[in-house]
Amino acid sequence: MEIEELIEKAINAKNNQTYTPYSHFNVGCAVEMEDGSIYTGGNIEIASYSPTNCAERTAIFKAVSEGKREIKKIAITGDADYTFPCGVCRQVIREFAKDPIIVIANSTNDYKTFTMDEILPHSFGPEDLTRSKNGE
Ligand code: THU
Repeated sequence: MEIEELIEKAINAKNNQTYTPYSHFNVGCAVEMEDGSIYTGGNIEIASYSPTNCAERTAIFKAVSEGKREIKKIAITGDADYTFPCGVCRQVIREFAKDPIIVIANSTNDYKTFTMDEILPHSFGPEDLTRSKNGE
């Protein structure tokens, strides 16, 4: 899918799929998986704030729970001027992507793209668990 189309889906998620009664800060996300399927989500807030789920994790977990495992592109849009994923979400993207295009969008004609390594350098990921230096 074209980047602009994926951004439109993220904007739609920001406008229609959030639950933000506490911060009123809305974020939307759309992910395109390896098979071309699209999943969207918004941030969901909880009164005892810590269980709050970011838009990125809502969308990614919907995909993973449907059996999808690899993100091709991910578009994120929020109320900040360029809303970047939080640290936790960067690690979640890392888990389910090999070489994703990460799109941080204000609109369909105002966005920036990043690689995984740019937003999470020197990361730890699934392969590291089988890379023990003790040969175990
Ligand atoms: N939030 C996201 O959904 N994604 C981000 O990348 C940053 C923060 C949400 C969490 C919370 O509901 C609100 O934004 C304010 O932190």
